[in-house]
Amino acid sequence: MTQKDVFKKLVAHCKEYGFVFPSSEIYDGLGAVYDYGQNGVELKNNIKRYWWDSMTMLHENVVGIDAAIFMHPTTWKASGHVDAFNDPLIDNRDSKKRYRADVLIEDLMAKYDEKIEKEVQKAAKRFGASFDEAMFRQTNPRVLEHQAKRDEIHARYAKAMNENDLPGLKAIIMDYDVVDPISGTKNWTDVRQFNLMFSTEMGSTADGAMKIYLRPETAQGIFVNYLNVQKTGRMKIPFGIAQIGKAFRNEIVARQFIFRMREFEQMEMQFFVRPGDEMKWFAYWKEHRLAWHKALGLGDNKYRFHDHDKLAHYANAATDIEFEMPFGFKEVEGIHSRTDFDLSSHEKYSGKNIKYFDPELNQSYTPYVIETSIGVDRMFLSIMSAAYCEEQLEGGDSRVVLKLPPVLAPVKAAILPLVKKDGLPEKAREIMDALKFDFRCVYDEKDSIGKRYRRQDAVGTPFCVTVDHDTLTDNCVTIRHRDTMQQERVSIDSLHDLIDREVNMKNLFRKIMD
Ligand code: GAP
Repeated sequence: MTQKDVFKKLVAHCKEYGFVFPSSEIYDGLGAVYDYGQNGVELKNNIKRYWWDSMTMLHENVVGIDAAIFMHPTTWKASGHVDAFNDPLIDNRDSKKRYRADVLIEDLMAKYDEKIEKEVQKAAKRFGASFDEAMFRQTNPRVLEHQAKRDEIHARYAKAMNENDLPGLKAIIMDYDVVDPISGTKNWTDVRQFNLMFSTEMGSTADGAMKIYLRPETAQGIFVNYLNVQKTGRMKIPFGIAQIGKAFRNEIVARQFIFRMREFEQMEMQFFVRPGDEMKWFAYWKEHRLAWHKALGLGDNKYRFHDHDKLAHYANAATDIEFEMPFGFKEVEGIHSRTDFDLSSHEKYSGKNIKYFDPELNQSYTPYVIETSIGVDRMFLSIMSAAYCEEQLEGGDSRVVLKLPPVLAPVKAAILPLVKKDGLPEKAREIMDALKFDFRCVYDEKDSIGKRYRRQDAVGTPFCVTVDHDTLTDNCVTIRHRDTMQQERVSIDSLHDLIDREVNMKNLFRKIMD
């Protein structure tokens, strides 16, 4: 099965098991907008809680806020979004389709990467155990030729993006014969900029209405509240402000399911530091955030850093944490050193003094900022991609299982009476009533026990607790572990601690801080 097939199956699974639905589906959906179902919302809430608690409980100097989505329009002038939050677009005159020029070029580079990987795989098969991959990559003429082409494109691309050179982007597309995937032609228009912010109007009369924007990032809600929090919280530099909330972008190339949406959710933290200390804190948050990801146990080899060639208008360093999705390594989180750009700009546009008096240095300055910014939906997708598993079982049977980190699983335990009679449902309800104050549990008495196990596997429930006739006399139940399918007989009194050991978030928090 190809990775493309796996991804298709994952999308179908998300719908079938109540994780993610297309928005307003009864009206045929709305492009790149999705709703989370009964299991999806639990997983999403658990991701948010993992992030929120790790930020605000493990760091004494990080506090949270919840700012409004609507903000004064000058905010977006000050932040640079009105003038510079653009995508370079290009149209094909034959298919009448619109594309992002940068995406077309990135896809072109990915084609060269694929060609190189194919050569390597072919050679690995041919040479078997004696294959020296590093040597092959350094010396094989075809690999070197593809690599040289890729490097050449990359250098031209980085230069054009950094210099905002739109004809330069078009020239790459023409020079390397990039054709429209639908029409197959090179009949391209010029590249032009398109602003990604959604706008609406606030106010009741046409004359008095004010054009406002749906925020394209949550970060600005933190910057405009910097003074409020610093003063009312008596915060001393360095300190951070965290926020989780919706953001909106009119993405042109919205694809890959919930990877690129028009309405999505961000978890952002702005960490305010002394000017000159920013690189030290940038390094700290880079490592700390990677540790947060890795603690989930999805596989350390699934993450990598990608340092930016093109820095955003506000940044003096930036890196992405990328995760290996079924469609390749993709950005899940950005860590940016934003200098004093935002606070200085808000100071200029608002006329308010946003300086910090540092009692240790006996001087005032505008703090520098390190930002960590992660998309909830992308995090959700990375977890689901890593968790989705089709397994062949002994006896020709098979199962689909979501090997979700137990801490994040929507349901922690399913309580299953073996039969619907003989007092077993009552006993199962008793167990459920004792556990439900600490863990999200479900009760299920329908169908055979095997079918019920499969249903729980498909939504990632780490424990199934079966109540049988012996339970009534020995006060023990059978607990089945999702990943190994192993079963053990345990006393009802030990159930709470057994489940808690696996699903308590503090275990992950300890791993991060080790
Ligand atoms: N405040 C900085 C900022 O917004 P960004 O790199 O544009 O930086 C941060 O976005 C994160 O938000 C990304 O790493 C990604 O996880 C998520 N994100 C951005 N655009 C998205 C979209 N259209 N759909 C889903 N997630 C998105």
